[in-house]
Amino acid sequence: MLERLLNPRTIAVVGASHKPGKVGHEVLRNLINYGFPGKIYPVNPKGGEILGLRVYRSLLEVPDEVDLAVIVVPARIVPSVVEDAGRKGVKALAIITSGFSETGPEGAELERRIVETARRYGMRILGPNIVGIMSTSKRINATFSGLTPYPGSVTIISQSGALLIAMAGRTWIEKVGINDMISIGNMSDITFPDLLQYYYGDESTKVIGLYIEGLKKGREFIEVARRANKPIVALKAGVSRRGALAAASHTGSLAGSAAVYRGAFRQARVVWANDLDDFFDKMLVLSLLRPPENGHVLIITNGGGVGVLSTDEAERQGIELEDPPKDLKEELRKYMPEFGSDKNPVDLTGMATDKEYYGTVSAALSHPWVGALVVLFCETALTSPQKVADAIVRAYDDSGRTKPIVVSFVGGPETMKAADTVKERGIPIYKSPELALRALAGLMEYARILKKGEPEFRPFGDVDRERVRRVLDAARAEGRSFLLEHEAKEVLEAYGVPVARTRVASSPEEAVALARETGLPVVMKIVSPDIVHKSDAGGVFVGVRTEEEVRETFNKIVENAKKYKPDARIVGVTVQELAPQGLEVIVGATRDPQFGPVVAFGLGGVMVEALKDVSFRVAPVTPEDAEEMVREIKARDLLGPFRGQKPRDVGALKEVISRISQLVTDFPEISELDANPVMLYGEGEGLKVVDARIILA
Ligand code: ACO
Repeated sequence: MLERLLNPRTIAVVGASHKPGKVGHEVLRNLINYGFPGKIYPVNPKGGEILGLRVYRSLLEVPDEVDLAVIVVPARIVPSVVEDAGRKGVKALAIITSGFSETGPEGAELERRIVETARRYGMRILGPNIVGIMSTSKRINATFSGLTPYPGSVTIISQSGALLIAMAGRTWIEKVGINDMISIGNMSDITFPDLLQYYYGDESTKVIGLYIEGLKKGREFIEVARRANKPIVALKAGVSRRGALAAASHTGSLAGSAAVYRGAFRQARVVWANDLDDFFDKMLVLSLLRPPENGHVLIITNGGGVGVLSTDEAERQGIELEDPPKDLKEELRKYMPEFGSDKNPVDLTGMATDKEYYGTVSAALSHPWVGALVVLFCETALTSPQKVADAIVRAYDDSGRTKPIVVSFVGGPETMKAADTVKERGIPIYKSPELALRALAGLMEYARILKKGEPEFRPFGDVDRERVRRVLDAARAEGRSFLLEHEAKEVLEAYGVPVARTRVASSPEEAVALARETGLPVVMKIVSPDIVHKSDAGGVFVGVRTEEEVRETFNKIVENAKKYKPDARIVGVTVQELAPQGLEVIVGATRDPQFGPVVAFGLGGVMVEALKDVSFRVAPVTPEDAEEMVREIKARDLLGPFRGQKPRDVGALKEVISRISQLVTDFPEISELDANPVMLYGEGEGLKVVDARIILA
């Protein structure tokens, strides 16, 4: 059905106006002027003729099949037009009209009605509230803007109509070639996943760019995006904290939608754009270049300064620069004076002319060690920028254009003019070395995405769902919407998460017996559904050493609790294993309004609160995604090896993240979970959850 929307043979414009300047008139004019090769049928009850085409009084009068009806009548008339379209057997509707769900409940109701009608007739709706559709390959401009994009192989789908038009204009400046541009508007029926699916099968589209403000079906988006057969670059706007759950727990308050979206998009294997410039830069490299076959990046420059700047940016982007192998160095040496440098960046010095550029670029592109090439040029008095530009393009052409290359020209008007010619020849070129490196990093990110394994989550088989069910039901039966600490740990344990052994004693004698079993010293804590902050109530004792102390501590804890809250119900006192100190980390889970259950990871203590150094993924999380999640926090160096300490057991950690993600997926009533702190030990030594909280929805 989307085929008829996006590759129509016939298009009707319903609301085609007789008056130039009106939206309905401009849509028709643009369609005609851009040279749509199929049939165009204007529809307007006034009949007559517009721009040389016969006007039909209603869709029902059109003497042909209509694949796509572009609707430009006022909102109140849209329902009757949709009904006519259904009766006519129209396949798809692009509804430009505004005044629907974006305006409030009344508009939302109107929108619901038109979707219902369309579904009844098996029609699909794009919009409403869109600027329309453009396609350079199919010569469609079904929008009210005369601006059409620079032709090429990128398809952009945008939630903002105005921005889509503006971007169409900008593609001419950036030379980002466009196949289709789709305004998705209110997404009443057709959503991002629907269009992604379609464009996976569209051979004219090599890269998909998404401008997203909010997703309607976050999980479906991830499912579809992660199966893409081509790069997807996304610019996500509106990453405010509003979407975060107003929850009391750590993870709840940290689940700002920006971080969740970022994590979800990585999981979905989408290349993230930081801003509009970055969006264009990444679409450009991904549409022009193949991802590198190996990670060696070689930088060639004629200026030390830009070389250093690019080295700094490479480090920021996680690109490691190594010096080239001996034979390549020898080859490069031929094109530089004594005082040049054959290290990485290769410095040809200010003496370099087009000959030196041609020679070194050719040598680098033909050497198997080089995965990707960065060519920098600083305007100097000695050479003409245009000659250097031509030499780079020639060397690239002569190499067969197989390896990725990004270029940066820094200089004045003459240099910028020369840069334009490089751009026009399909080589990404930037006005600063940092931008070139950033764009290359986008390409390398895609190379990593391609290497990722199967996205399917394989559930752990050794989990005890019944045991979890029993614990949750028992809490509910007592009217509680949270679990006590030992219950939360039991739930985790049932899912194979190692926890510090925790038992409840209801008398001092029982506490002593449990302590003997657990092994002294122990930790003892109050168990009461009425005391949330156990420490404030004097209800936590760490390192209780002797049996006598255990007995005394039991009584002390109960006494403190009664003082703190005289009417508190006291279930008993836990006797817990004193877990050895490890690196304190947090694994949590919460519910995101867009994505449902999400899992969070961060370092314990101030790191998580003050630095908001937390990473998120949508549950369930594969161990591979969990590993990425662990490695992307800023304080990742602490996972070691660090200052002589051996590396932490990341293997155990990623398994626990995966297991917890399965738990919150299997039990949707768990609205929040915090395993905090988790003691993470050295490689091969595992981890232990020391404290845990679970809140039920
Ligand atoms: N079937 C076909 N045509 C009809 C029908 C019908 N049942 N009823 C009326 N028409 C004709 C009208 O006669 C008129 O033609 P005319 O000028 O020859 O008389 C034409 O349809 C348009 O109707 P108008 O009442 O004149 O409506 P107008 O053109 O003022 O507005 C529009 C219609 C443009 C759809 C407006 O309601 C609207 O929604 N504007 C916003 C569009 C927009 O911005 N979309 C979102 C873009 S996203 C962004 O960010 C920019």
